[in-house]
Amino acid sequence: MNERSLPVEPPFVAQCAALCKLRHQSPTEEPVAWAMGCHAPEFSPIFQLSFNLGRSALDQRAQQQAASPPSAHHLPSRRNMLPARLRRTAVLLKRHVRLLATKTPGGRLVHEGDDFSRRHIGPGPEEQQQMLQTLGFKSLDELTDTAVPAAIRFRSDMNLPAPLDEHRMLRELREIALKNDVWKSYIGIGYSDCIVPPAIQRNILENSGWVTQYTPYQAEISQGRMESLVNFQTMIADLTGLPTSNASLLDESTACAEAMTLCYRSTKRNVFLADPMLHPQNTALLHTRAEPLGLKVEPLDLANPAFTPEVSGIIIQYPNTEGSIEDIKQLIAKAHANKTLVVVVCDLLASTLLTPPGELGADVAVGSAQRFGVPLGYGGPHAAFLSVANNDGRNTLARIMPGRVVGVTKDSNGNKAYRLALQTREQHIRRDKATSNICTAQALLANMAAMYAVYHGPGRLRRIAENIHKSTSYLAKQLTDAGHKVVHKVYFDTLKVIPKDLNAVKKRAQEHRINLRYYSDGAVGVALDETTGARELKDLLSVFGATAADEETIKAAVVDSSGPLLERKELHRQTPFLTHPNFNSYHSETQLVRYMKKLENKDVSLVHSMIPLGSCTMKLNASAELMPVSWPEFGGLHPFVPREQAKGYSILFENLERWLCEITGYDNLSLQPNSGAQGEYAGLLAIRNYLHSIGQDARDVCLIPSSAHGTNPASAQMAKMKIVPVGADKHGNIDWKDLTAKVDKYSKNLAAIMVTYPSTHGVFESSIVDVCQKIHDNGGQVYLDGANLNAQVGLARPGDYGSDVSHLNLHKTFCIPHGGGGPGMGPIGVKKHLAPFLPGHPVIPLKGCDGPPVSAAPWGSSSILPITWAYIRMMGAAGLTRASQVAILNANYMAKRLEGAYNTVYRSKEGLVAHEFIIDCKDFKKSADIEVVDIAKRLMDYGFHSPTMSWPVHNCLMIEPTESEDKAELDRLCDALLAIREEITMIEQGKLDRTVNPLK
Ligand SMILES: Cc1ncc(COP(=O)(O)O)c(C=O)c1O
Repeated sequence: MNERSLPVEPPFVAQCAALCKLRHQSPTEEPVAWAMGCHAPEFSPIFQLSFNLGRSALDQRAQQQAASPPSAHHLPSRRNMLPARLRRTAVLLKRHVRLLATKTPGGRLVHEGDDFSRRHIGPGPEEQQQMLQTLGFKSLDELTDTAVPAAIRFRSDMNLPAPLDEHRMLRELREIALKNDVWKSYIGIGYSDCIVPPAIQRNILENSGWVTQYTPYQAEISQGRMESLVNFQTMIADLTGLPTSNASLLDESTACAEAMTLCYRSTKRNVFLADPMLHPQNTALLHTRAEPLGLKVEPLDLANPAFTPEVSGIIIQYPNTEGSIEDIKQLIAKAHANKTLVVVVCDLLASTLLTPPGELGADVAVGSAQRFGVPLGYGGPHAAFLSVANNDGRNTLARIMPGRVVGVTKDSNGNKAYRLALQTREQHIRRDKATSNICTAQALLANMAAMYAVYHGPGRLRRIAENIHKSTSYLAKQLTDAGHKVVHKVYFDTLKVIPKDLNAVKKRAQEHRINLRYYSDGAVGVALDETTGARELKDLLSVFGATAADEETIKAAVVDSSGPLLERKELHRQTPFLTHPNFNSYHSETQLVRYMKKLENKDVSLVHSMIPLGSCTMKLNASAELMPVSWPEFGGLHPFVPREQAKGYSILFENLERWLCEITGYDNLSLQPNSGAQGEYAGLLAIRNYLHSIGQDARDVCLIPSSAHGTNPASAQMAKMKIVPVGADKHGNIDWKDLTAKVDKYSKNLAAIMVTYPSTHGVFESSIVDVCQKIHDNGGQVYLDGANLNAQVGLARPGDYGSDVSHLNLHKTFCIPHGGGGPGMGPIGVKKHLAPFLPGHPVIPLKGCDGPPVSAAPWGSSSILPITWAYIRMMGAAGLTRASQVAILNANYMAKRLEGAYNTVYRSKEGLVAHEFIIDCKDFKKSADIEVVDIAKRLMDYGFHSPTMSWPVHNCLMIEPTESEDKAELDRLCDALLAIREEITMIEQGKLDRTVNPLK
């Protein structure tokens, strides 16, 4: 490969070699090579070796254990087991009788067909009993009653439908899906139909080996998807003509908003000029984001721009929402003369033919990669992108851009490898000073889009673009010949047409089941795409009442057509793109499938072993839940089709809203936020707008406990709240004294508290009810971060015990797989008074929701919502409750087994943890020169993904086993951690060298 990459400057390369020794790097260090085009050669053998070593290390330990029976510390003795067994039988019998006798709808575990909850929950009843016994509890209920404070316990059955087995759930969901009426859509407005290469659909989208990993924080076991993300970054950098790209953003509209704040951060100027021809959702999100920050979004007059010294940036849609391509070179030059930055919202396919933003002189390019092989999905999930220029020779824009960046670095042997770069500017480290609140983004969809480019290569991508453009040009000519007026002369794939007879066009479009864009001025928009062939053109012509030739004639005419982008040299792209071998080597399905498999094999996902990342809830993503995502009835809908074509989705949303309200105790719910952090932002905006509506504009202080997730302060600053930290006491609870002092000090300005529950310290705080009360008594609102709902479903409802609003991470508690860094969904539940402030939408009105939109699509990433629907439908109330109970059981069991070897940092007064816990590793530094990162890497030798490192407590590991892991897997991880502890002891005792040992 030509390592065509970005100008990686020599000092960076040197620093890179020095800094980026993978085995010795803390997650907070900032590697400097963010070269997007570089690719490492083979990396997997290293990992494969250590993985195999790990397996044999565990096997050895198992043999040792078999030879010498486990100590009483690990398991109860045989003598103790006997009465326990009898006790257990009695308990089971009693429960069985109770189950048969109970008639709670949705509360039954026994139902027709297979009980899915038994498949979702790892430990069976016997194993649960063994673990309870280890903990000294007789039943799950007894454990739950002790672990969960009585003040917050939800004591009734959730009103959810009785559970279905997989087969019956799929049948019911299919019936709902079939209520969606999939018409052919030529609506455009940022979404284009496309062809998902079947090999990519089957081997990435539908493959748990690609969809179940977490964000690639653990570089050694993430090389596969990081290579693919570097492919994405290279593709974006090439197609936009700008050197540095991130690894995806949430959607095009949020990318526009991120670009605006990037311009603000860079220039410190507060006016942003927006092209009136942006897609409406892009304009709307600029306003959402600008208002709290005090930025002014004003219309950009392209011919006569008002460049004042306050203008930080301009944003231009290119081609614009009506399809027109304007000459913006002069405008860009004028902007630069005013030291104003230029953002161009571009179309990746158009950029294969058309001068890309970078060649025009743009500083930032944003857009959506959806049309690169990702289904419409009624709005998402799709990967958006953001790339930047190196306009000052120091990569300043790259350093302050939002989102994750995968960089190319070197491992300790000097071999090239990939790892996340520039992490020091991210929310989990810089909190309110971060470049944005983006955490979960759209890694899986970025990988799909990248593979689409890998599969087609530059030549075929250009041919696809040419074919679309020629088809559009053919259509334009035919419509003009038929007496319609085509408004714009220079276009790529979208026409604005003033029809002779609008009503006739509308009527015939209905008859042909075709959606067009209808402008308020009576014009009609037609946006073509990769799926438009002769048959589709024939249908379109008849919709416009033009005489259509037969398909063969149309085909030939399209081939002979030209078009403005092919005819006008001044518009032509001058630079080659996708020259890297990865885009030129895998064009047959055989090659592509092997390439995808090769990358998949480098990574650890849930198909290998448990991923015990605390605060991430890496539970089972069941096949039956995932299958409906690729049904065409969910995938084929454009987000702006008339509501009557999306009746299936309406049922799904209505069900989910009701069920999630029932689960959380809230009154209303918005499904719009497409990540947890977006949910936080939407929730804080609802609080802010509510306070303003009752004349409490002065309230702008947000209390945030020190244990909060980094996205909390990052979101609060986006909502222009003043962040006041609150400390924690020695149990990890909110420090009541500190809270009281802060509340007293800011009582006149208190807007909200953002509290995570159970806290990220892994404990159920008994004072949560009092905390909520205190905030309310002082005029504030309670934002309860619901990412940890996995410990509460069926046991406690935030809406009941005092919270006003929460986001739920559906990609954690509700089984949407994490995709290697996205997609996710972060819907927010609210109490009644906040409901009017839930996000609305500029294109599709959402009844009763008048708040500013936070995502491009009305219901965010709609096409992954069937996963959550399926989970709740199969688990039922009792299954969900049991899942929470077992999540708590599993965490406590592991904490117990590790007792003596590792200190659990925080426990409740009763000595219990919630659904996750933190083990302390900081003393090992002094005693054995061992750091938390060494333990994490040694765990990989045992075949495990490390727990969360050094968050929220430095030099500690946070373990979240989830309910889906069975006792054997929990024991395997405990055994590995105990074996590592023994190795540390040997170092402490001088039996192993402090620098040359298995952990280093
Ligand atoms: C407690 C908590 N809050 C918020 C978030 C942010 O969610 P997302 O990554 O979807 O933006 C997370 C994600 O890990 C979390 O654990």
